[in-house]
Amino acid sequence: MPSTLSPEALPAWASLQDHAVRLQTRTLPSLFVDDVSRFDRLSRNWQGLTLDLSRQRLDPAALDALLALATEAGLAEGIRAFFGGEAVNHTEGRPALHMALRGSCAAPAGAKLDQRPLRAFAAALRAGQVAGATDAPITRVINIGIGGSDLGPRLVAEALRSTVAERPVAIDFVANIDPRDLEEALEHADAASTLFIVSSKSFGTAETLANAQAGRDWLRARLPAGADVSRHFAAVSNATAAAAEFGIDPARTFALPEWVGGRYSLWSAIGLPLLVGLGEEAFDRLLAGARALDEHFRDTPFADNLPVLMGLVGLWNTDFLGLETLAVLPYAHGLRNFPAWLQQLEMESNGKRTLRDGSSTTAHTSPIVWGGVGTVGQHAFHQLFYQGTRSVPMDFIVPVGDDEPRQRGLVGNAFAQAAALMHGRDIDGARTALRARGLPEAEVERLAPHLVCPGNQPSTTLLMPRLDAFHLGQLLALYEHKVFVQGWIWGINSFDQYGVELGKEMARRLADAEGERDATSASLMAIADALRGG
Ligand code: F6P
Repeated sequence: MPSTLSPEALPAWASLQDHAVRLQTRTLPSLFVDDVSRFDRLSRNWQGLTLDLSRQRLDPAALDALLALATEAGLAEGIRAFFGGEAVNHTEGRPALHMALRGSCAAPAGAKLDQRPLRAFAAALRAGQVAGATDAPITRVINIGIGGSDLGPRLVAEALRSTVAERPVAIDFVANIDPRDLEEALEHADAASTLFIVSSKSFGTAETLANAQAGRDWLRARLPAGADVSRHFAAVSNATAAAAEFGIDPARTFALPEWVGGRYSLWSAIGLPLLVGLGEEAFDRLLAGARALDEHFRDTPFADNLPVLMGLVGLWNTDFLGLETLAVLPYAHGLRNFPAWLQQLEMESNGKRTLRDGSSTTAHTSPIVWGGVGTVGQHAFHQLFYQGTRSVPMDFIVPVGDDEPRQRGLVGNAFAQAAALMHGRDIDGARTALRARGLPEAEVERLAPHLVCPGNQPSTTLLMPRLDAFHLGQLLALYEHKVFVQGWIWGINSFDQYGVELGKEMARRLADAEGERDATSASLMAIADALRGG
C-alpha cells in the first residue's frame, strides 16, 4: 500500500505522466510556434520580479495539471501549517519559523527575539567603540562557521559589498578546516584589531571549533603575554555554556531560536557579520525584501505564486521529464556564491527519501544543484549545454542593474545564452556560419557536423531590477519557499538533516586510533601516515 503522503498516488500525478509523454518529444521552439502568446501565458511579474517559464518544456495544460498536483497534495494546508508555527519539522518536534525573524508571521509564545544587544554590539563595532586587549579598536572581523553558519552571510556580504558606502570594519569568512583557509584570512590581519565571531548554532561542529582554537592560538602568539584574548571573540550560538568554556564572554554570545534551521539562519543572529560589515539599514532592507516575498507566498493564488510555480516546474523536470540536475547561473559577480548557498538549501533540505510517515518514496526528490556565475561559466562548462548529450535545466538569475556598457553586456549575455540554448543551430545554420568565414565547400562539409547544437535546453529566467538588499532578500526567500513547496509535495521533512550526521560519525571513528575501520579506509590511512612521515 503506497504511503498516503506519496504524491505518486494523486490523480494529478497520472495526468502529469500523460502530459510528459505528450511533451517529451516536442522541441521547445515548436511550442512557441504553436502558441505565439506563450511568453505572456508562462511568465509572471510581481513587484519588479519577472519569472519566465516559457522556455521550460511545458504548456499551459501541463502547468494546470501541476497546479492541480499542488492542490491535491494539500500545499495550501502546508503553507498554513508552516506560517502558523506547526511542527512541520516533525522529526525534531519543532516549527520552522525563519519567517518570524522577518516579521511575516508570529513567533512561538515566549520566544526571545530581542535583537537589541546584538545590534548594539554591531553598531559599537562599526563606531570603533569595541577595543581588543591592547585597547586598539577592532577594524577586522573574521566569521568562523560552516554550512548555514557561513554560506548565507558570506553570500550576502559579497553581494552587497559594493552597495554600501560605509564599511568601517573589514569582514572575512573562514569555513574550511584546511589550515590554508584561516591562514589566508589572517594574511593581512593585525591581531590587536581583529575579532573572531564563532558562528555555530550547536557550538559542536568540528571544523568551526578547530578553526576557533587556531584563531585563539594565533592571537596568543601575537598579543602581549597575559593579554585577555576573550576581548577578540564573540559567538553566535545557542550553546552559551560551551562558548563560555571556550572563553567567550556570555554577554557577547548571541543566540538564535531553536526553530530556525542552520540553512535558514542568516536572518537571525547568524547575520551578525552582516550587521557589522553592511550596517543595520542594509540588513533591515534584506529582511524587508524577504518579508515581502513571504507575504506573496502566503497570500497569492498558486497560479501567480512565484515560489509555487518555481517549485512545480522543478518537480516537473525532476519527476516527469527525468532531468536530474539544476544548473543555477546568476549573472552577477555579487552572486558568485549563490550556487553554493543554494546547494545547501536544496540538497540538505530535500535530498531525502523517507516520507513524513516513515515510508520511503520512489519518486525522485531534490535535483543535483550546481552552477556558476555568468558570464564566466560561458567560457567553461556551457559547452556541455550546447553539445553534450544531456538535457540540463537551468535557472538564469539576472539583476538588470545600471545602464552601463559592461552591465548591459552582462545582461545581454544572459538573454543570448538562454535563447541560443533553446534554439540551437542545425546543420544548415552550421554551414551558413562556416561559409561566412569564407571556407571552401569541402571544409564546410567536413566541419559542419561539429558546429551543430541541438538546442532544446530548458531554462527559467528570473529577472530582477538590481542587486540591492531588498531584492536580494526577495531572491533568497523565493528559493527558500520553492524548497518548501517541493518538500511538501514530495511528502518529506525539509528541515532536518540526519544524513550528514553519518559522515561526521565516521570522521570521529576514523580519527580514533582504537576505532573500527573498513579495509580501504585502513589502507588509505596507512598510506597517508607514510606520506606525512609518520
Ligand atoms: O553538517 C550540517 C550542519 O549541521 C548544517 O545543517 C549546519 O548549517 C552546519 O552543520 C553548521 O552547524 P552549526 O551552526 O551548529 O555549527
